[in-house]
Amino acid sequence: MDGARKPQTPPVLILLGPPGAGKGTQARMLEDQFGLVQLSTGDLLRAAVAFGSKAGKAAKTVMEAGDLVSDDIVIAILRDRLAAPDCAKGVILDGFPRTTAQAEALDQMLGETGQQINAAILLEVDDVKMVVRIAGRFTCGACGEGYHDEFKQPKTAGICDNCGAEQMTRRADDNAKTVMSRLDAYHEQTAPLITYYDDKGVLRRVDAMKDIATIQNALATLTENIMA
Ligand code: AP5
Repeated sequence: MDGARKPQTPPVLILLGPPGAGKGTQARMLEDQFGLVQLSTGDLLRAAVAFGSKAGKAAKTVMEAGDLVSDDIVIAILRDRLAAPDCAKGVILDGFPRTTAQAEALDQMLGETGQQINAAILLEVDDVKMVVRIAGRFTCGACGEGYHDEFKQPKTAGICDNCGAEQMTRRADDNAKTVMSRLDAYHEQTAPLITYYDDKGVLRRVDAMKDIATIQNALATLTENIMA
């Protein structure tokens, strides 16, 4: 087994890795390159918080503390989004699953539509360096494009390369204290999924300490091989 399955149904890729590993950055690039749909539970939860829905109100304080939102809430949000027509093109899961219960729920959801996971790609990084990556992050509030003070600056300061908006924002949970809690949550609750997917024969590993373009090339090659 080479660690990935060829898709007979719309592809399902999972990006695994701690906060700051580059899941969002790379998922957006794979979306543009391969026409897959990025499903970020972090983005879906932040939208629910901004909207003020019941799920968003329950999630707000949990996210600000850097803890994981309850499985029930996250699974319900993901299930709804996965059922939307655009996901028939295939999806890249960014930030889901994060617990064994979520991974089992995903297996069940995909089983209902005859789909399966083609690859769970682990972005391998040095944790200590993730604090720097996260502390320097900012995002276009209009289109969601991600930037970094040092590693990925817009061509013109304050203006999004992608959509031209001047609405750069920083996340409420991107501070050193919360990042440490998020890293702890990753090691305690999400890292066991590495074995979960390895046992299923779909785990792939990518060195995510390299520069953004090098990682993008590695992921593009991997995705081409999976989809060929
Ligand atoms: P979420 O939004 O998923 O955050 P996260 O997993 O903590 O991941 P990040 O978005 O911080 O990092 P990333 O890996 O996407 O890195 P990025 O590409 O932005 O979750 C937030 C919260 O929501 C959670 O804490 C939890 O409360 C809740 N939640 C979400 N999903 C949940 C679930 N399934 N269950 C329960 N709760 C859930 O990159 C970071 C920065 O580094 C950027 O500035 C980027 O430009 C830069 N960068 C990227 N790659 C590189 C590189 N190779 N070199 C240098 N810089 C780089």
